[in-house]
This record gives sequence, C-alpha cells and structure tokens, in this order.
Amino acid sequence: MSTYTTAWKSPSNIALVKYWGKKPNATQIPSNASISFTLNNCATSTQLTYEEQESLEISVLLEGENEPSFVPKIEQFLKRISGVFPFVLRGKYTINTSNSFPHSSGIASSASGMSALALCICDIAMEKGLLTEDKFKETASELARLGSGSASRSIYGPMGEWGEHPDFAGSSDNFAIPYSDVADVFKDYCDTILLVHKGQKTVSSTVGHGLIDDNPYAPARFTQAQDNMTKLNAILKSGDLDAFITLVESEALTLHSLMMSSNPYFILMKPETLQVLEAIWAKREKDGVKWCFTLDAGANVHFLYPQADKAAAQAFIEEELAQYCENGAYIHDEVGAGAEKVI
Ligand code: DP6
Repeated sequence: MSTYTTAWKSPSNIALVKYWGKKPNATQIPSNASISFTLNNCATSTQLTYEEQESLEISVLLEGENEPSFVPKIEQFLKRISGVFPFVLRGKYTINTSNSFPHSSGIASSASGMSALALCICDIAMEKGLLTEDKFKETASELARLGSGSASRSIYGPMGEWGEHPDFAGSSDNFAIPYSDVADVFKDYCDTILLVHKGQKTVSSTVGHGLIDDNPYAPARFTQAQDNMTKLNAILKSGDLDAFITLVESEALTLHSLMMSSNPYFILMKPETLQVLEAIWAKREKDGVKWCFTLDAGANVHFLYPQADKAAAQAFIEEELAQYCENGAYIHDEVGAGAEKVI
C-alpha cells in the first residue's frame, strides 16, 4: 500500500464567449465552444494526500477547517472520472484546500477548485505509471471538465479554449487547449471583479445549463456562439479593442438573456449590476476609453481594461464603481499563466 502527497494551485477564469448549455445524453459535453482569460490572483490551492485502500474515504479541510459539505461533490467527481482512472475509487483522500479570494465573495470556486483537484489526481496517476508527461495537461483538463465544464480551461494561460471548433486546431469537446497567439495587449489584460452581491446564487450554473434544453432561442444561441468564436479569434490576433468590446459585452448580455428566456425564467443580475454597466457605458461615451464588462452566472461584474490604462481605470473604479459593490468590495486581477504545481 502506498501514500502519495501532491499540491497544485489553479486559477479561476472568465469566459469571453460563454459556455451555456450541454449536449443531451452526454457527460459534460458543451453545446458550443468557449474561450476565456485565465486569471492570476483568484486561485484555489489544493494539497491532496492519497492512501491506497479498498474503500473510498474522503475528508476535506477548507482553509484549515473541516468542511464535510464538500464531500458529496468530490465523491461525484471521483465517480465520474473513475472511467478514466478506476483507482480513484479505492483510496483514502485527505484534501486541504484554500481559496485566495474570500469564500463568501460570490466568485465561483468550481473552475479553480475542480482544476486543482484534477491536476492532483493526474499527479497520482503519473506516480502510478498510468499517465505520461505528454498527456498530463490534456488529461487534467479532461478530468477537470468532468468536475465542472469551465474548469477545463483553467489549466492553461493566458487563455483556454474548450469545445470543438473548425477555426481552433486541435480543439475538442473533451478537454481545453491553450490559446496564446494573441496581440500583446491581451496577454496582460486587467479584470477587476466588482463584488456587487456576495451571497449564494439563487440558481447554480449546473441547473441553469439544464434549463436551456427547453429554451426556444437555444439553437440560434449555439450558432451565434460558434460564429462569435470565429470573430473573437480574429479580434484577439488583431488587437481591435472596439470589436473586442462589442463582442464581449454582447456575449455577457446574451448569457443573461438566456436565463431570462428559460422556463422557469430567472434573473441573476441585481439593480447594482445594471448601475455598473451604465456607469461603464457613460464613461466610454464621455471619454472614449476602451473599457468594458463581462458577466459570469451571477450579479458580479468583471470590468476589463488594458494594462496600459491601469491607473486611470482603477481610479474610475474607486470614484464611480465601488459605490455599487457590496461593502465597496472588489478584487483586482489580470490575465495569468495557468495552473502551477506547488509540491
Ligand atoms: C456562465 O462550468 O460552472 O461561467 O459544467 O455545470 O459545472 P458546470 O458549469 P460551469 O458553467 C460556467 C458557466 C459560465 C460561462 C463559462 O464559464 O463559460
């Protein structure tokens, strides 16, 4: 019987073309391709000790405190990935995890958390001789996808692309691929997460994905997303910020319009979310700045701006946007290099 210990730090990511909808009768296969900026500061660090034994036993510590509420999700994850690595169901896991962002910030930790866990599992598979270095990241991304679709993209920086698309060579529905051939301006783009509402979301992403199946706009959306991937690919290479702003904001609002047109319908934005968007539009109108927003499946706003504008954009946040954030809270982040091994 052997014991293995490993640790990975894996970041969160923010999609520019959104994944919203899964193919029916398949496990975690997206209805359209998606692409995201990998973040730098918002990350999950996970240390995992695995001891071989016949039965499955899991204990989880979050920020040093026992967190039994995480166990069912991890058990479900291990069951899903046991098709790839059967050994995962025979072992005792001691998982010690912590997030760089506050637990109650309303920032989804599933992308960073599931990717960190997937990387740890791949380390064990390597130690056991079941995986080789050349397939390591691809397999980690595949396992991460089975935990949470968006997690598949967090393995790579500065950007990750997930989902089959003719314009992205090597792209796959099963795992994400790195995407780095972009104009310099995008390599260190800034994202300040404006924490408009820190509480639990009323509808989880997983439930939201399911509701798209009966949405009459779904087929048009999947076509639009594939087209937007083609357009964004060209924009990211050319560095055309005006085109970037239009496409990225449209994607964000389309995501939320899909929620509003689901059955049952729901709204995750808060009044302050709209106030932030209006303030950004007014600023752009007045000063011609190239700053924009995107949204994930929640009320918080990701405020995007080039590194060269950092001082001015951050002054604008302080003066005009912070008032709409719960307790004035926001997190400065920027595009990062992807997951890294800690031990
Ligand atoms: C709006 O990856 O959280 O953030 O696969 O069910 O875990 P599951 O969903 P999840 O959905 C993310 C949705 C999104 C868009 C995106 O990240 O592409």
